Amino acid sequence: GAVVLLAGEPGVGKSTLLLDVAQQWALGAGSPSLVVSGEESVSQVRLRAERMGTLHEQLYLAAESDLASVLGHLDAVKPGLLVLDSVQTISTSGTEGVPGGVTQVRAVTAALVSVAKERGIATVLVGHVTKDGQVAGPRVLEHLVDVVLHFEGDKHSSLRLVRGVKNRFGAADEVGCFEMHEGGISSLADPSGLFLTRYAEPVPGTCVTVAMEGRRALVTEVQALIGATVAGSPRRTVSGLDSARLAMVLAVLQRRTERLTLHDREVFAATVGGIRVVEPAADLAVALAVASGGLNLAIAPHLVAIGEVGLTGEVRRVGAVPRRLAEAARLGFKVALVPPGCGPASTGAGPGQMQVTEVTDVRSALHHAARASAE
Ligand SMILES: Nc1ncnc2c1ncn2[C@@H]1O[C@H](COP(=O)(O)OP(=O)(O)OP(=O)(O)O)[C@@H](O)[C@H]1O
Ligand SMILES: [Mg+2]
Repeated sequence: GAVVLLAGEPGVGKSTLLLDVAQQWALGAGSPSLVVSGEESVSQVRLRAERMGTLHEQLYLAAESDLASVLGHLDAVKPGLLVLDSVQTISTSGTEGVPGGVTQVRAVTAALVSVAKERGIATVLVGHVTKDGQVAGPRVLEHLVDVVLHFEGDKHSSLRLVRGVKNRFGAADEVGCFEMHEGGISSLADPSGLFLTRYAEPVPGTCVTVAMEGRRALVTEVQALIGATVAGSPRRTVSGLDSARLAMVLAVLQRRTERLTLHDREVFAATVGGIRVVEPAADLAVALAVASGGLNLAIAPHLVAIGEVGLTGEVRRVGAVPRRLAEAARLGFKVALVPPGCGPASTGAGPGQMQVTEVTDVRSALHHAARASAE
């Protein structure tokens, strides 16, 4: 009886994911699953299903754009799982307004929610995200359903994240990691190694951090390239990072470290593998990657840096440090730089073989990172 709203940008893979889910349901749940598409013809859905190898006799497909017909299919198939792709393309004659408009979408959702609750049908509604990132225009839908999931992904990467936004009956800060490929979509049980480059030799301009995606710790590499000296204002380009935070880290580095001139040089900073890391905990790794690139000094590849950088160059505390350290240790990292009060000496716990050092400011972090790479 739960009603889930899965929202995502066009082409991110919503239909692909849900077709796979419907297939798995048909295979194992003991009741049929029904996929109603208002956007594609049955043969188009079937084509996708064939490509993904998801054709099961308990998986039913229908192309409908009228609510009454959808309810008719529910009576005929009696599914345990209903996927409605998408809620904006279904309309009901009993209500005014254009299909996809607020009134219609609201009415359709309300009707399906009551049917789902009454008959105990697990229901997944696909919602399109508008340009400004909202589901179905106004966020009217989010109040009507039990669970809201956002499906995110970068156009240029095969990585997809399903993020819990609202959950009436459980934790909402869960993240599911998936990979899109020719044969459809598959889940990534252990995504951590994806966001790293394994170098044979230490190289300047890179530093590893551990980002949190919901409750999941992801070991992530940050790279920086310090470009040519230019007249006027130099370009600062980010990919997967927050540009405002990069600007701040650059200003702090310029001010707090000697030997490093950044104000007249181009700076490029990026994450690896298409992951987006905007949390302040990545500041320290960004700072170290930039300093490492600028000073042409490689940081030890087995080092992770975790911490927010403040305007005076101080390293500030961030959350979930033990969890981040455990994940880094699991992937074989041996040295960690953490904010004051976050190391094992302060918190009493920490991964065994890892050498964890608390650093108070960017300069001492640089100092420790240089020493670790010399060892
Ligand atoms: N033959 C194929 N080989 C590889 N990838 C494909 C193939 N066909 C489709 N795709 C991938 O699947 C993606 C589309 O997935 P899907 O239709 O599930 O997205 P969607 O979120 O439902 O989009 P929409 O909002 O338009 O309904 C495309 O971006 C494309 O990358
Ligand atoms: Mg679709």
